[in-house]
Amino acid sequence: MPIRIILAGATGWVGRALTPAIAATDDLELVAAVARSAAGRDLGETLGGAANGVPVFASVDEALTIPADVLIDYTKPDAVKANALAAIAAGRHVVVGTSGLGAADYAEIDAAATARSVGVLAAGNFSITATLLKSFTLEAAKYVADVEIIDYASAKKPDAPSGTARELAETLAAQRQAATSRPVADVSGVPATRGGAFGEGATEVRVHALRLPSFVLSVESVFGAPDERLTIRHDAGSSAVPYVAGTLLAARKVAGWTGVRRGLDTLLD
Ligand SMILES: NC(=O)c1ccc[n+]([C@@H]2O[C@H](COP(=O)([O-])OP(=O)(O)OC[C@H]3O[C@@H](n4cnc5c(N)ncnc54)[C@H](OP(=O)(O)O)[C@@H]3O)[C@@H](O)[C@H]2O)c1
Repeated sequence: MPIRIILAGATGWVGRALTPAIAATDDLELVAAVARSAAGRDLGETLGGAANGVPVFASVDEALTIPADVLIDYTKPDAVKANALAAIAAGRHVVVGTSGLGAADYAEIDAAATARSVGVLAAGNFSITATLLKSFTLEAAKYVADVEIIDYASAKKPDAPSGTARELAETLAAQRQAATSRPVADVSGVPATRGGAFGEGATEVRVHALRLPSFVLSVESVFGAPDERLTIRHDAGSSAVPYVAGTLLAARKVAGWTGVRRGLDTLLD
Protein backbone atom coordinates (compact mmCIF):
# COMPACT_ATOMS: atom_id res chain seq x y z
CA MET A 1 0.00 0.00 0.00
CA PRO A 2 1.43 3.42 -0.89
CA ILE A 3 2.42 5.94 1.78
CA ARG A 4 -0.40 8.51 1.85
CA ILE A 5 0.76 12.12 1.85
CA ILE A 6 -0.85 15.43 2.82
CA LEU A 7 1.12 18.26 1.22
CA ALA A 8 0.82 21.65 2.95
CA GLY A 9 1.97 24.47 0.69
CA ALA A 10 1.09 22.53 -2.46
CA THR A 11 0.71 25.63 -4.64
CA GLY A 12 4.03 27.16 -3.58
CA TRP A 13 7.44 27.15 -5.24
CA VAL A 14 8.46 23.83 -3.65
CA GLY A 15 4.94 22.36 -3.47
CA ARG A 16 4.51 22.72 -7.24
CA ALA A 17 7.66 20.68 -7.81
CA LEU A 18 6.67 18.00 -5.29
CA THR A 19 3.17 17.37 -6.68
CA PRO A 20 4.20 15.81 -10.03
CA ALA A 21 7.17 14.06 -8.40
CA ILE A 22 4.89 12.29 -5.92
CA ALA A 23 2.48 11.37 -8.74
CA ALA A 24 5.37 9.79 -10.66
CA THR A 25 6.15 7.31 -7.85
CA ASP A 26 4.57 3.93 -7.21
CA ASP A 27 5.00 4.00 -3.45
CA LEU A 28 3.71 7.48 -2.54
CA GLU A 29 0.19 8.83 -2.98
CA LEU A 30 -0.90 12.45 -2.59
CA VAL A 31 -4.28 12.31 -0.85
CA ALA A 32 -4.82 15.95 0.18
CA ALA A 33 -3.26 19.38 -0.22
CA VAL A 34 -3.28 22.63 1.74
CA ALA A 35 -3.23 26.16 0.33
CA ARG A 36 -5.60 28.89 1.52
CA SER A 37 -6.03 30.57 -1.87
CA ALA A 38 -7.01 27.30 -3.61
CA ALA A 39 -9.25 25.86 -0.89
CA GLY A 40 -12.18 23.84 -2.22
CA ARG A 41 -10.55 23.24 -5.60
CA ASP A 42 -8.87 20.23 -7.25
CA LEU A 43 -5.07 20.48 -6.96
CA GLY A 44 -4.34 19.36 -10.53
CA GLU A 45 -6.63 22.04 -11.96
CA THR A 46 -5.25 24.63 -9.54
CA LEU A 47 -1.75 23.94 -10.87
CA GLY A 48 -2.98 24.44 -14.44
CA GLY A 49 -3.28 20.80 -15.52
CA ALA A 50 -5.91 18.09 -15.60
CA ALA A 51 -7.93 17.26 -12.48
CA ASN A 52 -6.01 14.79 -10.28
CA GLY A 53 -8.66 14.13 -7.61
CA VAL A 54 -6.57 15.70 -4.84
CA PRO A 55 -8.71 18.06 -2.73
CA VAL A 56 -7.21 21.34 -1.50
CA PHE A 57 -8.03 22.51 2.01
CA ALA A 58 -7.57 25.91 3.66
CA SER A 59 -5.82 24.47 6.71
CA VAL A 60 -3.89 21.43 7.87
CA ASP A 61 -6.57 20.84 10.51
CA GLU A 62 -9.16 20.37 7.74
CA ALA A 63 -6.85 18.23 5.58
CA LEU A 64 -6.22 15.92 8.54
CA THR A 65 -9.81 14.67 8.19
CA ILE A 66 -8.48 12.68 5.20
CA PRO A 67 -6.80 9.36 6.17
CA ALA A 68 -3.05 9.78 5.61
CA ASP A 69 0.35 8.66 6.90
CA VAL A 70 2.65 11.68 6.48
CA LEU A 71 2.30 15.47 6.43
CA ILE A 72 4.88 17.27 4.30
CA ASP A 73 5.02 20.98 5.17
CA TYR A 74 6.37 23.68 2.84
CA THR A 75 4.29 26.64 4.03
CA LYS A 76 5.52 29.65 6.01
CA PRO A 77 7.52 30.15 9.22
CA ASP A 78 4.43 31.45 11.07
CA ALA A 79 2.32 28.38 10.18
CA VAL A 80 4.65 25.39 10.29
CA LYS A 81 4.83 24.72 14.03
CA ALA A 82 1.07 24.61 14.52
CA ASN A 83 0.77 22.43 11.40
CA ALA A 84 3.35 19.95 12.68
CA LEU A 85 1.78 19.77 16.15
CA ALA A 86 -1.70 19.24 14.66
CA ALA A 87 -0.45 16.40 12.47
CA ILE A 88 1.39 14.78 15.37
CA ALA A 89 -1.72 15.04 17.57
CA ALA A 90 -3.59 13.24 14.78
CA GLY A 91 -0.96 10.46 14.76
CA ARG A 92 0.67 11.41 11.45
CA HIS A 93 4.41 11.44 10.78
CA VAL A 94 5.78 14.82 9.66
CA VAL A 95 8.40 16.03 7.18
CA VAL A 96 9.28 19.68 7.84
CA GLY A 97 10.73 21.60 4.91
CA THR A 98 9.57 25.05 6.03
CA SER A 99 12.26 27.20 7.62
CA GLY A 100 11.98 29.40 10.72
CA LEU A 101 11.93 26.91 13.60
CA GLY A 102 14.78 26.65 16.07
CA ALA A 103 16.09 24.27 18.72
CA ALA A 104 13.45 25.23 21.31
CA ASP A 105 10.61 24.67 18.80
CA TYR A 106 12.03 21.30 17.84
CA ALA A 107 12.34 20.30 21.51
CA GLU A 108 8.60 20.95 21.87
CA ILE A 109 7.77 19.08 18.67
CA ASP A 110 10.04 16.21 19.75
CA ALA A 111 8.17 15.87 23.06
CA ALA A 112 4.82 15.78 21.27
CA ALA A 113 6.03 13.29 18.64
CA THR A 114 7.61 11.04 21.25
CA ALA A 115 4.41 11.05 23.32
CA ARG A 116 2.39 10.12 20.22
CA SER A 117 4.99 7.61 18.90
CA VAL A 118 5.38 9.28 15.50
CA GLY A 119 8.46 10.34 13.55
CA VAL A 120 9.48 13.83 12.41
CA LEU A 121 12.24 14.66 9.94
CA ALA A 122 13.13 18.35 9.69
CA ALA A 123 15.84 19.54 7.35
CA GLY A 124 16.94 23.10 6.81
CA ASN A 125 17.87 22.01 3.33
CA PHE A 126 16.72 18.86 1.52
CA SER A 127 19.23 19.15 -1.31
CA ILE A 128 21.98 16.54 -1.42
CA THR A 129 24.76 19.04 -2.14
CA ALA A 130 23.62 21.39 0.66
CA THR A 131 23.64 18.37 2.96
CA LEU A 132 27.24 17.75 1.89
CA LEU A 133 28.06 21.35 2.87
CA LYS A 134 26.87 20.51 6.39
CA SER A 135 28.79 17.21 6.53
CA PHE A 136 32.02 18.77 5.21
CA THR A 137 31.71 21.70 7.63
CA LEU A 138 31.28 19.39 10.62
CA GLU A 139 34.27 17.36 9.43
CA ALA A 140 36.46 20.46 9.00
CA ALA A 141 35.44 21.71 12.45
CA LYS A 142 37.19 18.70 13.99
CA TYR A 143 40.51 20.12 12.76
CA VAL A 144 40.02 23.92 12.64
CA ALA A 145 38.80 25.83 15.68
CA ASP A 146 37.62 29.10 14.14
CA VAL A 147 34.56 29.18 11.89
CA GLU A 148 31.78 31.62 11.04
CA ILE A 149 28.82 31.31 8.65
CA ILE A 150 27.59 33.67 5.96
CA ASP A 151 23.97 33.27 4.85
CA TYR A 152 22.96 34.91 1.54
CA ALA A 153 19.33 35.10 0.36
CA SER A 154 16.89 37.21 -1.60
CA ALA A 155 15.80 40.65 -0.40
CA LYS A 156 12.27 39.39 0.30
CA LYS A 157 13.08 36.27 2.36
CA PRO A 158 10.85 36.55 5.48
CA ASP A 159 13.16 34.83 7.97
CA ALA A 160 16.81 35.13 8.94
CA PRO A 161 18.94 33.18 9.04
CA SER A 162 17.80 30.64 6.45
CA GLY A 163 16.82 27.18 7.60
CA THR A 164 20.04 25.89 6.01
CA ALA A 165 22.27 28.26 7.99
CA ARG A 166 20.28 27.81 11.19
CA GLU A 167 20.48 24.02 11.19
CA LEU A 168 24.18 24.20 10.33
CA ALA A 169 24.91 26.71 13.12
CA GLU A 170 22.94 24.83 15.77
CA THR A 171 24.63 21.53 14.91
CA LEU A 172 28.07 23.13 14.69
CA ALA A 173 27.66 24.92 18.04
CA ALA A 174 27.15 21.54 19.71
CA GLN A 175 30.29 20.04 18.15
CA ARG A 176 32.87 22.75 17.44
CA GLN A 177 36.05 23.59 19.33
CA ALA A 178 36.38 26.87 21.26
CA ALA A 179 36.98 29.89 19.02
CA THR A 180 40.15 31.93 19.41
CA SER A 181 38.49 35.17 18.25
CA ARG A 182 37.88 38.01 20.73
CA PRO A 183 34.57 37.50 22.64
CA VAL A 184 31.86 39.77 21.25
CA ALA A 185 31.29 41.22 24.75
CA ASP A 186 34.83 42.68 24.48
CA VAL A 187 34.28 44.22 21.04
CA SER A 188 33.80 47.98 20.76
CA GLY A 189 32.01 49.80 17.93
CA VAL A 190 28.77 48.11 16.83
CA PRO A 191 29.00 44.55 18.23
CA ALA A 192 25.85 43.49 16.32
CA THR A 193 27.97 43.54 13.16
CA ARG A 194 29.67 40.39 14.51
CA GLY A 195 26.45 38.54 13.59
CA GLY A 196 23.81 36.50 15.41
CA ALA A 197 24.92 33.79 17.82
CA PHE A 198 23.83 30.16 18.06
CA GLY A 199 25.10 28.40 21.17
CA GLU A 200 26.95 30.08 24.01
CA GLY A 201 30.41 31.20 25.04
CA ALA A 202 33.51 30.24 23.06
CA THR A 203 31.67 27.52 21.13
CA GLU A 204 28.86 29.77 19.90
CA VAL A 205 28.56 30.06 16.11
CA ARG A 206 28.24 33.50 14.53
CA VAL A 207 25.92 33.78 11.50
CA HIS A 208 25.97 36.82 9.20
CA ALA A 209 22.81 37.11 7.08
CA LEU A 210 22.83 39.15 3.85
CA ARG A 211 19.47 39.88 2.16
CA LEU A 212 19.93 41.30 -1.33
CA PRO A 213 18.22 41.17 -4.74
CA SER A 214 19.71 38.55 -7.10
CA PHE A 215 20.57 35.97 -4.41
CA VAL A 216 18.50 32.78 -4.17
CA LEU A 217 20.18 30.99 -1.27
CA SER A 218 23.87 30.53 -0.61
CA VAL A 219 25.59 29.44 2.57
CA GLU A 220 29.30 29.72 3.26
CA SER A 221 31.27 28.19 6.12
CA VAL A 222 34.47 30.22 6.52
CA PHE A 223 37.27 28.62 8.54
CA GLY A 224 40.35 30.56 9.57
CA ALA A 225 43.63 29.16 10.88
CA PRO A 226 47.06 30.82 11.23
CA ASP A 227 47.99 32.07 7.74
CA GLU A 228 45.39 29.98 5.86
CA ARG A 229 41.64 29.80 5.23
CA LEU A 230 39.12 27.22 4.10
CA THR A 231 35.77 28.20 2.56
CA ILE A 232 33.01 25.65 1.97
CA ARG A 233 30.10 27.08 0.01
CA HIS A 234 26.77 25.92 -1.38
CA ASP A 235 24.76 27.89 -3.98
CA ALA A 236 21.14 26.98 -4.72
CA GLY A 237 19.86 27.57 -8.26
CA SER A 238 16.55 29.15 -9.15
CA SER A 239 14.35 26.01 -9.28
CA ALA A 240 12.99 23.83 -6.49
CA VAL A 241 14.23 20.62 -8.15
CA PRO A 242 17.14 20.05 -5.68
CA TYR A 243 14.74 19.68 -2.74
CA VAL A 244 12.45 17.05 -4.27
CA ALA A 245 14.46 13.82 -3.95
CA GLY A 246 15.47 14.49 -0.33
CA THR A 247 11.91 15.35 0.68
CA LEU A 248 10.53 12.17 -0.88
CA LEU A 249 13.27 10.12 0.79
CA ALA A 250 12.24 11.63 4.14
CA ALA A 251 8.55 10.83 3.50
CA ARG A 252 9.52 7.20 2.82
CA LYS A 253 11.68 6.86 5.96
CA VAL A 254 9.98 9.05 8.59
CA ALA A 255 7.81 6.24 9.98
CA GLY A 256 11.02 4.45 10.98
CA TRP A 257 11.66 6.27 14.30
CA THR A 258 9.95 8.17 17.09
CA GLY A 259 10.57 11.89 17.78
CA VAL A 260 12.49 14.54 15.82
CA ARG A 261 15.50 13.96 13.62
CA ARG A 262 17.13 17.06 12.13
CA GLY A 263 19.01 17.08 8.84
CA LEU A 264 18.92 14.99 5.69
CA ASP A 265 22.39 13.78 6.67
CA THR A 266 20.73 11.65 9.38
CA LEU A 267 19.13 9.63 6.56
CA LEU A 268 22.04 9.50 4.13
CA ASP A 269 24.33 7.76 6.61
N1 LIG B 1 14.12 22.63 3.63
C1 LIG B 1 14.36 22.94 2.35
O1 LIG B 1 15.11 22.26 1.64
C2 LIG B 1 13.66 24.13 1.73
C3 LIG B 1 13.81 24.40 0.37
C4 LIG B 1 13.12 25.48 -0.17
C5 LIG B 1 12.30 26.25 0.63
N2 LIG B 1 12.21 25.96 1.96
C6 LIG B 1 11.30 26.70 2.85
O2 LIG B 1 9.99 26.18 2.62
C7 LIG B 1 9.02 27.19 2.86
C8 LIG B 1 8.13 27.32 1.63
O3 LIG B 1 8.91 27.84 0.58
P1 LIG B 1 8.26 28.20 -0.84
O4 LIG B 1 9.29 29.01 -1.54
O5 LIG B 1 7.69 26.99 -1.50
O6 LIG B 1 7.06 29.18 -0.37
P2 LIG B 1 5.86 29.77 -1.26
O7 LIG B 1 6.14 29.69 -2.71
O8 LIG B 1 5.55 31.12 -0.67
O9 LIG B 1 4.64 28.78 -0.97
C9 LIG B 1 4.02 28.72 0.31
C10 LIG B 1 2.85 27.75 0.20
O10 LIG B 1 2.28 27.60 1.50
C11 LIG B 1 0.91 28.03 1.47
N3 LIG B 1 0.69 28.73 2.75
C12 LIG B 1 1.31 29.84 3.18
N4 LIG B 1 0.86 30.18 4.41
C13 LIG B 1 -0.07 29.25 4.75
C14 LIG B 1 -0.88 29.04 5.90
N5 LIG B 1 -0.85 29.89 6.94
N6 LIG B 1 -1.69 27.97 5.91
C15 LIG B 1 -1.74 27.13 4.87
N7 LIG B 1 -0.98 27.26 3.74
C16 LIG B 1 -0.16 28.32 3.69
C17 LIG B 1 0.79 28.93 0.24
O11 LIG B 1 -0.52 28.98 -0.27
P3 LIG B 1 -1.59 30.09 0.26
O12 LIG B 1 -0.83 31.38 0.41
O13 LIG B 1 -2.64 30.11 -0.78
O14 LIG B 1 -2.07 29.59 1.58
C18 LIG B 1 1.71 28.20 -0.71
O15 LIG B 1 1.07 27.07 -1.25
C19 LIG B 1 9.82 28.45 3.23
O16 LIG B 1 9.92 28.55 4.63
C20 LIG B 1 11.19 28.18 2.62
O17 LIG B 1 12.23 28.89 3.29
C21 LIG B 1 12.86 24.92 2.52
